Amino acid sequence: MKLDGKVAIVTGVGPNIGQAIARTLAQSGARVACNDIREEHAEETARLIRDAGGEAISVAADVTDETQVEDLVASVVKTFGGVDILINNAFKLARQGLLESTLADWEKVLKVILTGSFLMSRAVAKRMVEQGRGGSIVHIASTSGHRGRADDLAYCTAKGGTLNMTRAMAMDLVKYGIRVNSVTPTKTGLTTEALRKSGNAAALRLGRNFYADVPMDRLGDPNEIAKAVLFFASDDSSFCTGTDLRVDGGSLATWSLQSDKLARLAP
Ligand SMILES: NC(=O)c1ccc[n+]([C@@H]2O[C@H](COP(=O)([O-])OP(=O)(O)OC[C@H]3O[C@@H](n4cnc5c(N)ncnc54)[C@H](O)[C@@H]3O)[C@@H](O)[C@H]2O)c1
Repeated sequence: MKLDGKVAIVTGVGPNIGQAIARTLAQSGARVACNDIREEHAEETARLIRDAGGEAISVAADVTDETQVEDLVASVVKTFGGVDILINNAFKLARQGLLESTLADWEKVLKVILTGSFLMSRAVAKRMVEQGRGGSIVHIASTSGHRGRADDLAYCTAKGGTLNMTRAMAMDLVKYGIRVNSVTPTKTGLTTEALRKSGNAAALRLGRNFYADVPMDRLGDPNEIAKAVLFFASDDSSFCTGTDLRVDGGSLATWSLQSDKLARLAP
């Protein structure tokens, strides 16, 4: 299998994209450390992998806490003997525009998305450099990082940062054979139940209109995002670094969805 002998850490393995990534990497032969700030999420994903015959551990930790991150990576290396793949997937939303944004919420969103990815990448990259066998780091971006959107200032700002952090990190690590890339999902896997849990009342109210701006006219499936992550995690992408792969149903390909959709729907 593509990832036989590899060890992967996936952050934020809640039951949507993070869980699909962890399961896909495990199905491809990797031993997977499932991280989440919520212990039940980390344990559930690790259990699902083990139930399917894979190898996984759960490591509850807050990716914004430097000490917890160092301990997390040390425990993965101790258990599995090294680390080859890191997927920075954990995130936080605030759903506030400029005028309503509080400093605390702004800082929280940037801290999980940017500082969390920085701390995890630094701790893992140091191990990868010591190991001397390269590695792959994948950041999960968002269409909100490529375009502006009302009422989500901190998230849009942080995800824009994710895209350029990917390029800058790739340049820092290229001489060690460590590749750094990002995957850009758009609205993905948000079942009604998941929406309810996320407390995204606006999306629930909108129903199907929630994804009206996706040209393929549907939500992404978490497994579709996971397959793109597997591409970057494996040697199939051996000549890719500092790049982004959009898995967004065409969302970023159009500037005028309304007229495109109307033309398609016209008799
Ligand atoms: N789902 C979508 O529609 C969508 C669209 C575009 C981009 N994305 C991106 O995909 C990724 C996954 O999204 P999702 O919807 O599957 O998320 P999710 O909410 O299902 O999972 C995110 C997980 O991160 C964890 N987390 C939050 N703070 C943490 C911390 N400090 N330390 C460790 N874990 C922490 C949460 O507990 C949660 O389980 C995110 O980076 C998100 O920005 C998602």
